Amino acid sequence: MQEVLQRLEKIDNLEDLESLRIEILGKKGILAQQFIKLKDFQGEAKKIFAQELNTYKEEFETLLMEKKATLSQAQMHAKLAQESLDASLFTTLRPKSEGHPIMQTMDRIIEFFVNMDFSIQDGPLIEDDFHNFEALNLPAYHPARDMQDTFYFKDSMLLRTHTSPVQVRTMENSSLPIRMIAPGSVFRRDYDLTHSPMFHQVEGLVVDSKDKVNFANLKYILEDFLHYMFGDVRIRFRSSFFPFTEPSAEVDISCVFCKGEGCRVCSHTGWLEVLGCGIVNQKVFDNLSYEDVSGYAFGLGVERFAMLIHRINDLRSFFETDLRVLEQF
Ligand code: PHE
Repeated sequence: MQEVLQRLEKIDNLEDLESLRIEILGKKGILAQQFIKLKDFQGEAKKIFAQELNTYKEEFETLLMEKKATLSQAQMHAKLAQESLDASLFTTLRPKSEGHPIMQTMDRIIEFFVNMDFSIQDGPLIEDDFHNFEALNLPAYHPARDMQDTFYFKDSMLLRTHTSPVQVRTMENSSLPIRMIAPGSVFRRDYDLTHSPMFHQVEGLVVDSKDKVNFANLKYILEDFLHYMFGDVRIRFRSSFFPFTEPSAEVDISCVFCKGEGCRVCSHTGWLEVLGCGIVNQKVFDNLSYEDVSGYAFGLGVERFAMLIHRINDLRSFFETDLRVLEQF
Protein backbone atom coordinates (compact mmCIF):
# COMPACT_ATOMS: atom_id res chain seq x y z
CA MET A 1 0.00 0.00 0.00
CA GLN A 2 2.83 2.33 0.92
CA GLU A 3 4.34 2.01 -2.53
CA VAL A 4 1.01 2.62 -4.21
CA LEU A 5 0.51 5.75 -2.13
CA GLN A 6 3.84 7.15 -3.24
CA ARG A 7 3.04 6.52 -6.88
CA LEU A 8 -0.41 8.13 -6.50
CA GLU A 9 1.20 11.20 -5.04
CA LYS A 10 3.43 11.66 -8.08
CA ILE A 11 0.69 11.33 -10.69
CA ASP A 12 -0.28 14.71 -12.22
CA ASN A 13 -2.67 13.76 -15.03
CA LEU A 14 -5.81 11.69 -15.53
CA GLU A 15 -4.26 9.32 -18.10
CA ASP A 16 -1.51 8.11 -15.72
CA LEU A 17 -4.12 7.74 -12.99
CA GLU A 18 -6.19 5.50 -15.26
CA SER A 19 -3.11 3.31 -16.00
CA LEU A 20 -2.48 2.88 -12.29
CA ARG A 21 -6.15 1.97 -11.75
CA ILE A 22 -5.94 -0.73 -14.41
CA GLU A 23 -2.66 -2.01 -13.03
CA ILE A 24 -4.22 -2.56 -9.61
CA LEU A 25 -7.95 -3.09 -10.16
CA GLY A 26 -8.04 -4.30 -13.77
CA LYS A 27 -9.15 -7.81 -14.78
CA LYS A 28 -5.55 -9.01 -14.85
CA GLY A 29 -4.42 -6.52 -12.21
CA ILE A 30 -2.50 -7.08 -9.02
CA LEU A 31 -5.62 -7.48 -6.89
CA ALA A 32 -7.23 -9.94 -9.26
CA GLN A 33 -4.08 -12.08 -9.05
CA GLN A 34 -4.16 -11.96 -5.24
CA PHE A 35 -7.81 -13.04 -5.27
CA ILE A 36 -6.82 -16.09 -7.36
CA LYS A 37 -4.37 -17.03 -4.62
CA LEU A 38 -7.30 -17.27 -2.18
CA LYS A 39 -7.99 -20.81 -3.29
CA ASP A 40 -4.65 -21.92 -1.72
CA PHE A 41 -5.90 -20.91 1.75
CA GLN A 42 -8.29 -22.77 4.07
CA GLY A 43 -10.61 -21.93 6.94
CA GLU A 44 -9.83 -18.97 9.20
CA ALA A 45 -6.69 -18.01 7.25
CA LYS A 46 -8.73 -17.78 4.04
CA LYS A 47 -11.23 -15.56 5.74
CA ILE A 48 -8.55 -13.21 7.08
CA PHE A 49 -6.78 -12.97 3.73
CA ALA A 50 -10.04 -12.23 1.94
CA GLN A 51 -10.84 -9.51 4.43
CA GLU A 52 -7.41 -7.95 3.96
CA LEU A 53 -7.80 -7.94 0.19
CA ASN A 54 -11.24 -6.29 0.40
CA THR A 55 -10.04 -3.60 2.81
CA TYR A 56 -7.12 -2.89 0.53
CA LYS A 57 -9.43 -2.64 -2.47
CA GLU A 58 -11.80 -0.24 -0.73
CA GLU A 59 -9.01 2.02 0.50
CA PHE A 60 -7.44 2.16 -2.91
CA GLU A 61 -10.76 2.99 -4.56
CA THR A 62 -11.33 5.88 -2.16
CA LEU A 63 -7.86 7.28 -2.76
CA LEU A 64 -8.37 6.92 -6.50
CA MET A 65 -11.64 8.84 -6.38
CA GLU A 66 -10.14 11.69 -4.37
CA LYS A 67 -7.16 12.00 -6.68
CA LYS A 68 -9.44 11.97 -9.72
CA ALA A 69 -11.53 14.82 -8.34
CA THR A 70 -8.46 16.99 -7.62
CA LEU A 71 -7.02 16.34 -11.06
CA SER A 72 -10.29 17.08 -12.93
CA GLN A 73 -10.69 20.33 -11.08
CA ALA A 74 -7.13 21.40 -11.82
CA GLN A 75 -7.64 20.51 -15.47
CA MET A 76 -10.83 22.61 -15.63
CA HIS A 77 -9.11 25.62 -14.05
CA ALA A 78 -6.27 25.38 -16.52
CA LYS A 79 -8.74 25.23 -19.41
CA LEU A 80 -10.75 28.23 -18.15
CA ALA A 81 -7.60 30.29 -17.70
CA GLN A 82 -6.67 29.57 -21.30
CA GLU A 83 -10.13 30.35 -22.69
CA SER A 84 -10.69 33.60 -20.81
CA LEU A 85 -12.67 36.17 -22.83
CA ASP A 86 -12.68 39.93 -22.62
CA ALA A 87 -16.28 41.03 -22.10
CA SER A 88 -15.33 44.68 -22.50
CA LEU A 89 -14.13 44.13 -26.04
CA PHE A 90 -16.29 45.75 -28.77
CA THR A 91 -17.74 43.33 -31.27
CA THR A 92 -20.27 45.17 -33.43
CA LEU A 93 -20.83 48.90 -33.55
CA ARG A 94 -24.59 48.80 -34.01
CA PRO A 95 -26.28 51.76 -32.30
CA LYS A 96 -28.29 50.86 -29.24
CA SER A 97 -32.04 51.40 -29.41
CA GLU A 98 -34.70 51.71 -26.74
CA GLY A 99 -37.47 51.29 -29.32
CA HIS A 100 -39.62 53.84 -31.11
CA PRO A 101 -41.26 56.42 -28.80
CA ILE A 102 -44.74 55.30 -29.92
CA MET A 103 -43.95 51.71 -29.02
CA GLN A 104 -42.39 52.78 -25.71
CA THR A 105 -45.61 54.60 -24.85
CA MET A 106 -47.73 51.70 -26.07
CA ASP A 107 -45.70 49.28 -23.90
CA ARG A 108 -46.22 51.44 -20.84
CA ILE A 109 -49.99 51.60 -21.45
CA ILE A 110 -50.17 47.84 -21.99
CA GLU A 111 -48.08 47.22 -18.87
CA PHE A 112 -50.61 49.09 -16.72
CA PHE A 113 -53.62 47.17 -17.99
CA VAL A 114 -51.93 43.77 -18.01
CA ASN A 115 -51.08 44.36 -14.34
CA MET A 116 -54.80 45.07 -13.85
CA ASP A 117 -55.56 41.64 -15.30
CA PHE A 118 -56.72 42.75 -18.77
CA SER A 119 -56.01 40.38 -21.67
CA ILE A 120 -54.63 41.62 -24.99
CA GLN A 121 -56.82 41.15 -28.08
CA ASP A 122 -56.13 41.67 -31.75
CA GLY A 123 -58.21 42.21 -34.87
CA PRO A 124 -57.78 42.81 -38.62
CA LEU A 125 -56.71 46.22 -39.99
CA ILE A 126 -58.97 45.76 -43.01
CA GLU A 127 -62.43 45.58 -41.49
CA ASP A 128 -65.96 45.15 -42.74
CA ASP A 129 -68.69 47.71 -42.26
CA PHE A 130 -70.46 45.60 -39.65
CA HIS A 131 -67.57 45.42 -37.17
CA ASN A 132 -66.27 48.97 -37.65
CA PHE A 133 -69.67 50.73 -37.69
CA GLU A 134 -72.94 48.81 -37.78
CA ALA A 135 -72.46 46.65 -34.65
CA LEU A 136 -71.28 49.74 -32.78
CA ASN A 137 -74.62 51.48 -33.32
CA LEU A 138 -73.40 53.44 -36.32
CA PRO A 139 -75.83 52.41 -39.09
CA ALA A 140 -75.33 53.55 -42.70
CA TYR A 141 -75.94 57.29 -43.19
CA HIS A 142 -75.67 57.91 -39.45
CA PRO A 143 -74.22 61.41 -39.15
CA ALA A 144 -71.72 60.25 -36.53
CA ARG A 145 -69.87 58.34 -39.27
CA ASP A 146 -68.57 61.72 -40.38
CA MET A 147 -66.58 61.91 -37.13
CA GLN A 148 -64.27 59.36 -38.69
CA ASP A 149 -62.97 60.07 -42.20
CA THR A 150 -62.79 56.59 -43.57
CA PHE A 151 -60.59 54.99 -46.25
CA TYR A 152 -62.92 52.66 -48.19
CA PHE A 153 -62.22 49.65 -50.40
CA LYS A 154 -64.78 48.07 -52.72
CA ASP A 155 -67.51 45.82 -51.23
CA SER A 156 -67.93 47.90 -48.06
CA MET A 157 -64.53 46.87 -46.75
CA LEU A 158 -62.47 49.62 -45.13
CA LEU A 159 -59.34 50.41 -43.11
CA ARG A 160 -60.50 50.35 -39.52
CA THR A 161 -60.96 53.88 -38.19
CA HIS A 162 -60.66 52.87 -34.55
CA THR A 163 -59.85 49.83 -32.39
CA SER A 164 -63.50 49.50 -31.30
CA PRO A 165 -64.23 46.70 -33.84
CA VAL A 166 -61.98 44.50 -31.68
CA GLN A 167 -64.56 44.99 -28.89
CA VAL A 168 -67.17 43.52 -31.22
CA ARG A 169 -64.96 40.63 -32.32
CA THR A 170 -64.05 39.79 -28.74
CA MET A 171 -67.71 39.83 -27.67
CA GLU A 172 -68.56 37.52 -30.59
CA ASN A 173 -65.95 34.99 -29.49
CA SER A 174 -65.69 35.05 -25.70
CA SER A 175 -67.63 34.16 -22.63
CA LEU A 176 -68.02 36.43 -19.60
CA PRO A 177 -66.32 38.09 -17.91
CA ILE A 178 -64.54 40.04 -20.66
CA ARG A 179 -61.63 42.20 -19.57
CA MET A 180 -59.54 43.18 -22.57
CA ILE A 181 -57.46 45.82 -24.23
CA ALA A 182 -56.82 46.06 -27.97
CA PRO A 183 -53.71 48.01 -28.98
CA GLY A 184 -53.12 48.62 -32.67
CA SER A 185 -52.92 50.90 -35.67
CA VAL A 186 -55.96 52.69 -37.11
CA PHE A 187 -56.49 54.87 -40.20
CA ARG A 188 -58.27 58.13 -41.01
CA ARG A 189 -58.08 60.67 -43.81
CA ASP A 190 -56.36 63.34 -41.81
CA TYR A 191 -52.95 65.01 -41.94
CA ASP A 192 -51.75 68.01 -39.94
CA LEU A 193 -49.74 68.93 -36.84
CA THR A 194 -51.72 66.59 -34.61
CA HIS A 195 -53.09 64.03 -37.09
CA SER A 196 -51.53 61.37 -39.27
CA PRO A 197 -53.43 59.04 -41.67
CA MET A 198 -52.12 56.09 -39.67
CA PHE A 199 -51.95 56.28 -35.90
CA HIS A 200 -52.34 54.03 -32.88
CA GLN A 201 -55.07 53.47 -30.36
CA VAL A 202 -55.57 51.34 -27.29
CA GLU A 203 -59.13 50.21 -26.71
CA GLY A 204 -60.43 48.85 -23.43
CA LEU A 205 -63.55 46.80 -22.70
CA VAL A 206 -64.94 45.19 -19.57
CA VAL A 207 -68.19 43.22 -19.67
CA ASP A 208 -69.71 41.31 -16.78
CA SER A 209 -73.00 40.83 -14.94
CA LYS A 210 -74.94 44.03 -14.20
CA ASP A 211 -73.94 44.27 -10.54
CA LYS A 212 -70.24 44.11 -11.36
CA VAL A 213 -69.66 46.92 -13.89
CA ASN A 214 -70.59 50.57 -13.51
CA PHE A 215 -69.35 54.07 -14.23
CA ALA A 216 -67.59 54.32 -10.86
CA ASN A 217 -65.38 51.32 -11.80
CA LEU A 218 -64.53 53.00 -15.10
CA LYS A 219 -63.72 56.30 -13.43
CA TYR A 220 -61.55 54.63 -10.82
CA ILE A 221 -59.43 52.64 -13.25
CA LEU A 222 -58.96 55.54 -15.68
CA GLU A 223 -57.91 57.93 -12.92
CA ASP A 224 -55.41 55.38 -11.69
CA PHE A 225 -54.17 54.86 -15.26
CA LEU A 226 -53.77 58.58 -16.05
CA HIS A 227 -51.81 59.16 -12.86
CA TYR A 228 -49.59 56.23 -13.84
CA MET A 229 -48.94 57.80 -17.25
CA PHE A 230 -48.75 61.51 -16.43
CA GLY A 231 -47.93 61.65 -12.73
CA ASP A 232 -49.48 64.33 -10.59
CA VAL A 233 -52.18 65.80 -12.86
CA ARG A 234 -55.77 66.82 -12.18
CA ILE A 235 -58.41 64.81 -14.02
CA ARG A 236 -61.94 65.65 -15.12
CA PHE A 237 -64.71 63.71 -16.85
CA ARG A 238 -66.69 65.78 -19.34
CA SER A 239 -70.01 64.56 -20.70
CA SER A 240 -69.74 63.68 -24.41
CA PHE A 241 -71.20 61.53 -27.17
CA PHE A 242 -70.20 58.24 -28.81
CA PRO A 243 -72.83 56.09 -30.53
CA PHE A 244 -71.52 52.93 -28.83
CA THR A 245 -71.49 54.24 -25.26
CA GLU A 246 -74.26 55.77 -23.18
CA PRO A 247 -73.56 57.75 -21.08
CA SER A 248 -70.29 58.83 -22.67
CA ALA A 249 -67.49 61.03 -21.43
CA GLU A 250 -64.28 62.58 -22.59
CA VAL A 251 -61.49 62.71 -20.06
CA ASP A 252 -59.20 65.72 -19.65
CA ILE A 253 -55.99 66.11 -17.67
CA SER A 254 -54.67 69.44 -16.43
CA CYS A 255 -52.28 70.81 -19.08
CA VAL A 256 -48.83 69.25 -18.67
CA PHE A 257 -47.19 72.29 -20.30
CA CYS A 258 -48.61 75.11 -18.15
CA LYS A 259 -49.88 73.06 -15.19
CA GLY A 260 -53.39 74.36 -15.86
CA GLU A 261 -52.50 78.06 -16.02
CA GLY A 262 -53.55 78.30 -19.66
CA CYS A 263 -51.20 78.25 -22.66
CA ARG A 264 -51.18 77.88 -26.45
CA VAL A 265 -51.14 74.05 -26.32
CA CYS A 266 -54.30 73.82 -24.19
CA SER A 267 -55.92 76.76 -26.04
CA HIS A 268 -55.81 78.68 -22.76
CA THR A 269 -58.29 76.31 -21.13
CA GLY A 270 -55.79 74.65 -18.77
CA TRP A 271 -57.09 71.22 -19.85
CA LEU A 272 -56.02 68.60 -22.42
CA GLU A 273 -58.40 65.93 -23.71
CA VAL A 274 -56.78 62.48 -23.57
CA LEU A 275 -59.42 59.79 -24.00
CA GLY A 276 -63.01 58.83 -24.72
CA CYS A 277 -65.06 56.40 -22.66
CA GLY A 278 -68.48 55.37 -21.44
CA ILE A 279 -70.88 52.64 -20.47
CA VAL A 280 -71.45 50.26 -23.39
CA ASN A 281 -74.67 51.21 -25.18
CA GLN A 282 -77.44 48.61 -24.76
CA LYS A 283 -77.88 48.68 -28.57
CA VAL A 284 -74.37 47.22 -28.98
CA PHE A 285 -75.30 44.34 -26.65
CA ASP A 286 -78.58 43.86 -28.56
CA ASN A 287 -76.69 43.63 -31.86
CA LEU A 288 -74.61 40.81 -30.41
CA SER A 289 -77.46 39.13 -28.47
CA TYR A 290 -75.93 39.75 -25.07
CA GLU A 291 -78.52 39.86 -22.29
CA ASP A 292 -78.44 41.12 -18.70
CA VAL A 293 -74.87 42.38 -18.84
CA SER A 294 -73.18 45.68 -18.28
CA GLY A 295 -69.92 47.00 -19.69
CA TYR A 296 -67.59 49.92 -19.89
CA ALA A 297 -65.28 50.88 -22.72
CA PHE A 298 -62.59 53.42 -23.42
CA GLY A 299 -60.32 54.38 -26.27
CA LEU A 300 -57.22 56.53 -26.49
CA GLY A 301 -54.69 57.73 -29.06
CA VAL A 302 -51.14 56.60 -28.37
CA GLU A 303 -49.52 59.42 -30.41
CA ARG A 304 -51.32 61.99 -28.31
CA PHE A 305 -50.04 60.37 -25.12
CA ALA A 306 -46.48 60.23 -26.50
CA MET A 307 -46.66 63.89 -27.57
CA LEU A 308 -47.73 64.99 -24.12
CA ILE A 309 -45.23 62.79 -22.30
CA HIS A 310 -42.31 63.93 -24.47
CA ARG A 311 -43.58 67.50 -25.12
CA ILE A 312 -43.56 67.13 -28.90
CA ASN A 313 -45.63 69.57 -30.94
CA ASP A 314 -45.61 67.96 -34.40
CA LEU A 315 -47.03 64.44 -34.45
CA ARG A 316 -45.58 63.83 -37.90
CA SER A 317 -42.02 63.80 -36.52
CA PHE A 318 -42.78 60.33 -35.11
CA PHE A 319 -43.13 58.96 -38.62
CA GLU A 320 -40.46 60.81 -40.54
CA THR A 321 -37.82 58.24 -39.54
CA ASP A 322 -35.28 60.98 -38.87
CA LEU A 323 -32.80 59.25 -36.56
CA ARG A 324 -31.69 62.59 -35.08
CA VAL A 325 -35.21 62.96 -33.71
CA LEU A 326 -35.79 59.33 -32.74
CA GLU A 327 -32.42 58.93 -31.01
CA GLN A 328 -33.48 61.42 -28.36
CA PHE A 329 -35.82 58.89 -26.76
N1 PHE B 1 -63.55 54.62 -30.68
C1 PHE B 1 -63.55 55.97 -30.16
C2 PHE B 1 -62.72 56.86 -31.10
O1 PHE B 1 -61.95 56.34 -31.87
C3 PHE B 1 -62.97 56.04 -28.78
C4 PHE B 1 -63.84 55.34 -27.77
C5 PHE B 1 -63.67 54.00 -27.50
C6 PHE B 1 -64.81 56.05 -27.08
C7 PHE B 1 -64.46 53.36 -26.57
C8 PHE B 1 -65.61 55.43 -26.16
C9 PHE B 1 -65.42 54.09 -25.89
O2 PHE B 1 -62.79 58.04 -31.05
